[in-house]
Amino acid sequence: MLKLVTKNIGIENSHTLAVAKANGVYSRVEKALAMAPEAIVEDVIKSNLRGLGGAGFPAGRKWSFLPKDSPKPRYLVVNGDEGEPGTVKDKYIMIHDPHLLIEGIIITCFAIRSHKAFIYIRGEYDLPIERVEGAIAEAKAAGILGERVMGRDFALDIVVHRGAGAYICGEETSLLESLEGKRGWPRLKPPFPAVEGYQRCPTVVNNIETLSYVPFVIEMGGQAFADLGSERNGGLRIYSVSGRVNKPGVYELPMGTPLRQIIYDHAGGIAGGRQLKAVIPGGSSAPILTAAEIDVPMDFDSLAKIGSMLGSAGIVVFDETVSIPAALLVLARFYAHESCGQCTPCREGTAWMTKIIQRILDGDGRMGDADNLIRIARNVLGNTICPLGDAAALPVISWVTKFRPEFEEWIKRGRPVSQAPIPVTHIGERTAVAV
Ligand SMILES: Cc1cc2nc3c(=O)[nH]c(=O)nc-3n(C[C@H](O)[C@H](O)[C@H](O)COP(=O)(O)O)c2cc1C
Repeated sequence: MLKLVTKNIGIENSHTLAVAKANGVYSRVEKALAMAPEAIVEDVIKSNLRGLGGAGFPAGRKWSFLPKDSPKPRYLVVNGDEGEPGTVKDKYIMIHDPHLLIEGIIITCFAIRSHKAFIYIRGEYDLPIERVEGAIAEAKAAGILGERVMGRDFALDIVVHRGAGAYICGEETSLLESLEGKRGWPRLKPPFPAVEGYQRCPTVVNNIETLSYVPFVIEMGGQAFADLGSERNGGLRIYSVSGRVNKPGVYELPMGTPLRQIIYDHAGGIAGGRQLKAVIPGGSSAPILTAAEIDVPMDFDSLAKIGSMLGSAGIVVFDETVSIPAALLVLARFYAHESCGQCTPCREGTAWMTKIIQRILDGDGRMGDADNLIRIARNVLGNTICPLGDAAALPVISWVTKFRPEFEEWIKRGRPVSQAPIPVTHIGERTAVAV
């Protein structure tokens, strides 16, 4: 099975410069630096490499939006906040192949004519931060970074910035505010970061995984990379699989791999021989799928067609023993806690939805609460500065709509439909939760 970004994971000391170089890392820099920056952007556009942080915006097109005539410096900001519950992919890259990330940053900065990059890493990620900082130090000492990148007439500095554990700071404009030393509140867009980003200068914000694929686009060429994936979704990507499967973990597979195949062939099927009940396909913000919907190809367009999202490709699998209302409370609490409070619909709506779900679970639910939840969620949706409001509302709408009888049964009886114990599942490391 072809592997790209995870190819070196498992090799002893893969995070060190010597081992990384021996396994191909930095081999694409020379080729890239001999190309015209515009030609790299064109190749990345052709590759159909999508933004893998969540929104799926085509990477090359984003780069092409930088103003051509601005006298201001340009920046690359690398998003390593990885806050989406169910998502544990960027940390693997940072821990096991930080030099691959640096290689991707070098090529991207050259393509967008930037001489300074920031890597914003979530505060809890001690080992990833240590590994990335160590790799930058090694690369500087070896002349891979600095005034003359690998001896060429191109200067590049990379600075690591440690976040403080706020989910909202993964949203690109909050991240920029936080990077500037301010409170992490989202900015109104437009202007988009490409025009006014870090310090109001033209800035590209890309995810760790997105940038780690860039060397492979250069190595194989945009068309060949595109051909590895599905239509308009180029290459491979890393799916984080957690919950009730026999083999939770991270799996690098082609874009468009059917969800059923990921769950049953790669993640070993449902643990304990139980039945599949539901799946979150793309991090907790992605609308839930029922067991009947898992033949979907895992790419941005196919999931959008059935009303969900590929997002960060954090797949969370629920078996038949999982109580949907109880699991939704975990998510609702998370979003209420992480709402930055700037927009009233999100601040009030997330707290209100949490309160209603809690009262259903406490046995005090009212008939009409399922409709109340959907109504409140619809009033949050699209009415906030950033998409955190949508991220909180979409699960409520889809979970209540698809599993309405379970909510109503709980409201009527004041307890769960099934009396099975509520077991524990792990959806990402920060979010080991009881559902
Ligand atoms: C609430 C919220 C949290 C987000 N968290 C992350 C994150 O942790 N990591 C990430 O790369 N993108 C995250 N995003 C998406 C970013 O805003 C942005 O789209 C992304 O970093 C762009 O990089 P990409 O185009 O390579 O995906 C988040 C968005 C929202 C609305």
